[in-house]
Amino acid sequence: MVNLKDIQDALKNIQPFIHKTPLIFSNSFSKLIGAEVYLKAENLQKTGSFKVRGAFNKLTGIKDGKVIAASMGNHAQGVAFAANTLGIHAKIVMPVTAPIVKQEATKGYGAEVELYGETFSDALSHALSQKYYAFIHAFDDEKVIAGQGTIGIEISEDLKDVDYVIVPVGGGGLISGIASAVKALSPKTKVIGVQTESATSAYDSLKNKEISDKLPLPTLADGIAVGRIGEKTFEIMSKHVDEMLLVKEDSIAMAILLFLERKKLVVEGAGAVPLAALIENKDKFKGKKIVLVISGGNIDFTLIDRIIHKGLVTSGRIGVFEVVVDDIPGSLHYVTGVIASHRGNVLSVVHDRLAGDLSVGKTKVVFTVEVKGRAHLEEILSELKAKGFGVKKI
Ligand SMILES: Cc1ncc(COP(=O)(O)O)c(C=O)c1O
Repeated sequence: MVNLKDIQDALKNIQPFIHKTPLIFSNSFSKLIGAEVYLKAENLQKTGSFKVRGAFNKLTGIKDGKVIAASMGNHAQGVAFAANTLGIHAKIVMPVTAPIVKQEATKGYGAEVELYGETFSDALSHALSQKYYAFIHAFDDEKVIAGQGTIGIEISEDLKDVDYVIVPVGGGGLISGIASAVKALSPKTKVIGVQTESATSAYDSLKNKEISDKLPLPTLADGIAVGRIGEKTFEIMSKHVDEMLLVKEDSIAMAILLFLERKKLVVEGAGAVPLAALIENKDKFKGKKIVLVISGGNIDFTLIDRIIHKGLVTSGRIGVFEVVVDDIPGSLHYVTGVIASHRGNVLSVVHDRLAGDLSVGKTKVVFTVEVKGRAHLEEILSELKAKGFGVKKI
């Protein structure tokens, strides 16, 4: 177990090296949910995630020698940066599937990077097999947990009478630290953990009251795609975490988009799950004072256009539909005229003359259209139907 004193000591240890990140009130998210919503912006932390807190707390206790860690990304960067700052040699083992941006950043912080295996578990067993290195666990370590818990102290310093602190969960180190601090400083505050439906090991473990393995599926929230939570984190979470929620991948995409659009904040999938949880559970959180822990901003920029597109589709700002028209000159012009009259903006048009369900002389046209929202799209579709077109939303 980690107590408040451990976390207060951790804060003293790491204060010279980290930022006290801002707690930002969000007017637009507060309005969206009908609550009072604050963001603990760890995406603005050094290395772009909270991980430096745990890494510095652990590494300040290692005077010499070499350290090794296994990570999909953010822990790698945290350990690499802390080791470099403290003059310790760090080797990081990452699976070949780790986002390239995180591999490169880890090298950039001065660590030796070894790519090994397809999954985090492969990288982990490889790192554990190497002698002469002190192993730095990403979450199941009391020093690491106490370091992450310093976020809980900072939240309590900045805001009183919080109803909910909502935290992303992978292996459980972040929430274990935060919950240990928050429950000591503000016992009435509820701590809620969030995972994606694609990686539910912590959710399952707390529900089953025993550690349950679950191989993660591909997810936008790669930072929390962990197949098994820790022994220590399971024990702390069982004691201090009030509830676990799961969110859908579509909601994560929508949340990333909302952060970009409304707050001008770059937030990675794992860091966006608390907002996704608010969006999916508006009634539960209405009228409450809520802190979302925005745990990281290291998004893979090769994916960002696809994530934005998915977010726009999910939030109804891009509509995709097919229309069956006569295969004669002018048909397409007629349909685009209807769309234009409603001020919809056509992004792409694809013809399909060979679809099996088409009668001869007809063609199917798939439109991708930028609209103001779902109601606006319905206006366009209703008018097309009223004019006798076969229309189907995709
Ligand atoms: C951005 C981000 N958020 C949340 C987490 C979850 O932290 P933990 O594994 O301690 O639960 C991670 C873990 O790497 C992360 O990178």
